[in-house]
This record gives sequence, structure tokens and C-alpha cells, in this order.
Amino acid sequence: MATALRELWRFSSDYSRKEPKTRLMAHSLTAKRATSLQGNIEVPGDKSISHRALILGALANGRTAIDGLLEAEDVLATARVVSQLGAEVSKVDDQWIVLGRGVGGLGLDDGGNSGDTLALDFGNSGTSARLLMGVIAGHEITATLDGDASLRKRPMGRVIKPLIEMGLQISDASAADTGYRLPLDVRGTGNLLPIEYRLPVASAQVKSAILLAGLHAAGETRVMEPTHTRDHTERMLRHMGGHVSVEDGPEGRLISLDGRQELTGRPITVPGDPSSAAFPIAAALMVPGSQITVRNVLCNPLRTGLFQTLIEMGADIRFENEIEMAGEEVADISASYFPLKGVEVPASRAASMIDEYPILSVIASMAEGETIMRGLDELRVKESDRLASTLAGLKASGIEARIDGDDLIVSGAASVPGGGMIATEMDHRIAMSFLVLGLVSEKPVIIDDRRMIATSFPEFETLMGDLGAEFIPG
Ligand code: S3P
Repeated sequence: MATALRELWRFSSDYSRKEPKTRLMAHSLTAKRATSLQGNIEVPGDKSISHRALILGALANGRTAIDGLLEAEDVLATARVVSQLGAEVSKVDDQWIVLGRGVGGLGLDDGGNSGDTLALDFGNSGTSARLLMGVIAGHEITATLDGDASLRKRPMGRVIKPLIEMGLQISDASAADTGYRLPLDVRGTGNLLPIEYRLPVASAQVKSAILLAGLHAAGETRVMEPTHTRDHTERMLRHMGGHVSVEDGPEGRLISLDGRQELTGRPITVPGDPSSAAFPIAAALMVPGSQITVRNVLCNPLRTGLFQTLIEMGADIRFENEIEMAGEEVADISASYFPLKGVEVPASRAASMIDEYPILSVIASMAEGETIMRGLDELRVKESDRLASTLAGLKASGIEARIDGDDLIVSGAASVPGGGMIATEMDHRIAMSFLVLGLVSEKPVIIDDRRMIATSFPEFETLMGDLGAEFIPG
């Protein structure tokens, strides 16, 4: 039975409105000290791969059937926008089906002649906004792009500037002055130019936006990344019959693709998200007596920086039953409690664990000695200023920590006081990280707003509860 998509896409943008403190308390959640965590679980599908499955499915010819799509608000925003752009998206039993329109085939049926402007709302999701900007750039589409209060603060110039070079038009000339922040009126074109572009920041979103635009340009687009970033777009393009060349050289990795090639819809099974698996794994490493397994976790080497770091800290983590799913490495990950030691995490590893620093900081609070995390400037432009919100949460919990330039330094202790109220700042990963801290702290930890957890990991409370964690509303 096809589920009514209007219902699935029910999308809450209440977060963007300012609420009085008393109403915010209605959404708070308290984590209490846990005894031991045990169990064998599966976390929901990888967020990055889920976005790309919907987007590339929409650009492919024919049918893409997706198993294990992450049904969280960020990905549902992509599903909704892709369908507004003209792809047919439906859910049949547990499978998502995308009927693609072919490369360059999206947009209104009149080819944009009516002058109608699409209103596209990306909610809290930077990945939806940035990747889909690349797609819109290559079509005769006029659109107003918008998001919630958190997304409106995030820099879009990093994507918009190369897309303008390729042919995207921005109607408000003064948008450059504010870093092209949302809301933004844009117009794409059927005559995009290819580009040769060196990424000024290590960002898979920027790389992917340019590659998706390049798919629509006449000629070869080349992106040079000095630091390797997650390569799900490249892998999925190949999975769908596309040609992408990747060459490593002294300056970094060069990714090239010819525009106007054809993609073919294919089945995709989305593996579990390692960025979500990080939370139960962290909890198991910290709560004495714990032993858990998370099955079917994506283990793409450009995503496993956290696990590498934890092993260096002495963690007992094992990878078993390694398989391949839709061109990606996947394994079951087991983790057991073990006292950890602080380490230095080099800046060169940041891209492979960029979303995991809040939870690593929480783990570091109980490791012996200092953990020094270097080169975290990109954390300032995530769903919140994560460098500031992580430090504030640690301090509110009685943990000694400091920022030195772009580095975060956390001093571990045998016990963590806790007892603080954590300001989540509309950031799902801050919310989940500090709930995990509450499982080991002396006094309970309260987060001010649990609603953002639904943007990436709606099952978080239930799955952690299955392992033995206790979270109490209020
Ligand atoms: C993502 C890339 C990363 C990451 C985000 C998902 C992606 O962002 O933080 O959660 O799917 O490409 P940046 O590209 O901004 O580093």
C-alpha cells in the first residue's frame, strides 16, 4: 500500500519560532545514570546515503527502489523537495520508490516558461539544501530556497559561488553581502557551464553540489579536494552506471565527470548510519559492564575516523561480518566497556569524523588524561556552532575543557559531576551526545529540547532504552 506522502512529510518548522522558556521546558529530557547496557541493535539508515539515493534516483532513468532509507526529518525534506522538482516519490510497504526523470529532466512541465516560483523548504538540513542547489542549478527552475532558523544562519556562499560561475542566477545582488544565507531566490539554467574548482573547505556537500551541477553541464567538470571527504556521491553515481574518474596526486584528489551522461535507476540498500551508531557505541564504552553490537553499520573509510580514534584510546571495538551494500563497505560493530586513555586527534582526520566531535568530547571526559582534538574550525558552521555548544555543555556538566584556536581540549576524570541543563541550540548531535553523558554522570543531565533528535535519529530514545538506558521527559 502506498502511504500518503503528505502524512510522511509532515514537517515541523516550529523550531524556527522563538518560544518562551516555560514552553521549551515541555520538550526537555533527562538522562539518568545507567547500570550496564546490553544488546544487539540496528540503527537507522545512513543520512548522507539516504539523501543521495533520493536525489540520484530523481536524476536517473527509471525506477530506484530504496530499502532502509532513513525516515528522519532531514531526509524527508529531501524527499519532499525532490518530488516538488518533478520526480515521483512513493513508499510501498517498507520500500521507497523514486521514478526518475533523467539527467536534466526535472522541473515544471512547461520548462519554466510560466515563470512560477517553487517554494522549497529544507528545514534543518544543510545536506538537502546544498546538494539540491547543485541540481536546481542545472534546470530551468526558479525557486525560493528556505530553511529553519538554524539553516538560515549557515553559510551557503561556499556552494552558491561555484554554482554562479557555472550559470546559476541569484535574483538579489545584495545576497553576497550576507554570505548567500537563506532565504534565497535562485534561477537555474539548461545551459550550465562545466567548471574546474579547488575546494576551499573540506566539504563533501560542496563537492557533491558541484558534481551534481556538473552532471548537467556541457563538458567535463573537475573538483580538486586537498582533503579527502566522504565519497558517497561518487560511489552512487557509479552504482547507477555513471562514469566518475578519481585520481590521487600531490595536491589532493581530483574528481572528474562528464556532463549529460545517463544514470539508470537501480536498487539501493542503505546501511546503518555510523554517525548514529556512535551514540550507543560511546555509551557502551563508558558504562561499566556494557557489551553491545550494532549490526550493518556503514564502514566507508572516509567515515570511520571516530572508530579509529576510539581504538587508539584503547577501546574494545570489533568489526565482523563485513559485506558490501550498494558499493559501500558495511560491518557489524561490537563494543564493550573498557577504561580509555586520552589521545591527540590530528586535524587531518577531522573530515572523516566531522559529525562525531560532540560525542568524542563526551567520551574524552572519562578518559585518563587530556584529549586534544585539532583543526575543528568547520564545527563552527554546523547545525549550531558546535565548538561553542560542545564546550558549553561540557562546562555545564562540570568537565574541564577549553578551546585553543581551532582545537578543543578535554581533561578526563574518574567521575563526571553532571547535573547541568544543556542548551541544545537546535542541534540533534548536541542533544544526543549529552544524553549519553547523563548515563555516566553523578547527577542526571537535562537537555533543554529533544525535538531536533528527529532530524537524524528518531528512534534514538527507543533504541537506547532497549539497551538499558533511562531517559525521562522533563
Ligand atoms: C555531509 C557532509 C558533512 C557532514 C554532514 C553530511 C554530506 O558536511 O557534516 O552531516 O552528506 O555530504 P560538510 O560537507 O559541510 O562537511
